[in-house]
Amino acid sequence: MHYFEYHHGELLAEKVPVKKIVEEVGTPVYIYSAATLRRHLQVFSEAFSDIPHLICYSVKANSNLAILKLLGKLGAGADIVSGGELYRALKAGIPPEKIVFSGVGKTEREMEEALSAGILMFNVESLGELEALRRVAQKIGKPAPFSIRVNPNVDPKTHPYISTGLKKNKFGLPEEVAFEAYRKAKDDPFLHPLGIDCHIGSQLTEISPFTEALRRLKELYQRLLAEGFELRYLDLGGGLGIVYGNEEPPPPAEYAEALKQELRDLSCTLILEPGRVIAGNAGILVTRVLYVKSNPPSPGEKEGKNFVIVDAGMNDLIRPAFYQAYHRILPVREISGEETIVADVVGPICESGDFLAKERTLPPISPGDLLAVFSAGAYGFVMSSNYNSRPRAAEVLVDGERFFVVRKRETYEDLVRLETIPEEV
Ligand code: LLP
Repeated sequence: MHYFEYHHGELLAEKVPVKKIVEEVGTPVYIYSAATLRRHLQVFSEAFSDIPHLICYSVKANSNLAILKLLGKLGAGADIVSGGELYRALKAGIPPEKIVFSGVGKTEREMEEALSAGILMFNVESLGELEALRRVAQKIGKPAPFSIRVNPNVDPKTHPYISTGLKKNKFGLPEEVAFEAYRKAKDDPFLHPLGIDCHIGSQLTEISPFTEALRRLKELYQRLLAEGFELRYLDLGGGLGIVYGNEEPPPPAEYAEALKQELRDLSCTLILEPGRVIAGNAGILVTRVLYVKSNPPSPGEKEGKNFVIVDAGMNDLIRPAFYQAYHRILPVREISGEETIVADVVGPICESGDFLAKERTLPPISPGDLLAVFSAGAYGFVMSSNYNSRPRAAEVLVDGERFFVVRKRETYEDLVRLETIPEEV
């Protein structure tokens, strides 16, 4: 669900006409709905309200400070994967004791920053990383709380680029290696085993891979308890899918019910790291149509090819190009009539892979029209770049009748801010 709805043929973000935002801020622009974010977090959290749990919002999905602040105020912690995300989470006021640090390539500097800040735990992904964490802990004289990220070899049945829980993926450690890692750390004064962790992938639309992974994790958790470890947290990662088109992901309550069934006989605090399910449908990307062009059919072909060329490209939203992801695209002002066109919606970037949609049926669209690309709140702006020297889009947060620019549109100056021209050249 989300609060982007049509009212008298005009798309509103909560109570604010999208057109009004565009008039002030321009395009392309990301627009987020505070009410949707709040609701998503509340629904997700309430689903687990009868068991000890901690929701660590996955910062990578959308790391805008205003959004972190809003979620933090509602009690969310953070799942971070870099020193930069730690900086953002702390700046937004998320308490360090609600932060978990995931990722296969943490540097010692990042570990030191996080350990000094007093985060809840490190989700460690290799033996080398565990050794590095120990060195850092010894250096600053503070034991490091950690979980091992287990790779349960479960197929999440999602796009291969966002599957992470299979043996062939770079993430985590197989159960047996993880077990040995805990044993090694057992009497170490600088390593403090606190939990166990996994994350099997993103945009999962079935529950069974989660419960299968949880079963594996639970088994290892119990084995470790039997060995005398005093673990307290079981972190199942993120991954719950959302509706982009015709997917039918389980609602959070159903997902929670299945996990709670598995956890009945275990006393631990469950950590979850949702990203997409919180932010995905809480954001849209609004773009303006620049040109519409039709290429005539080649000899022997019946149909020509239509292109709707817009002012947002793969540098603004890379998901369609990178994962062949589907995003619903609708005009900001409804266009009436039966007539439709089938077109590729493409950006201005000099790459054939620069598209937002392929072979999409659209109402007859004209230059100047505004289009809303839905479900762009997660992995949208955060994955944007300056490719083709395009300043990154503005970000706007709507709350009821008000809206706030929470990140200004970049300027040409911003593009070259960090560059210097050596005099010798
Ligand atoms: N925890 C860990 C350790 C993760 O690696 C991820 C996502 C999450 C939590 C959050 O997963 P979520 O609840 O959002 O599914 N760029 C891709 C998605 C990459 C996800 C990477 N890891 C996309 O646009 O689909």
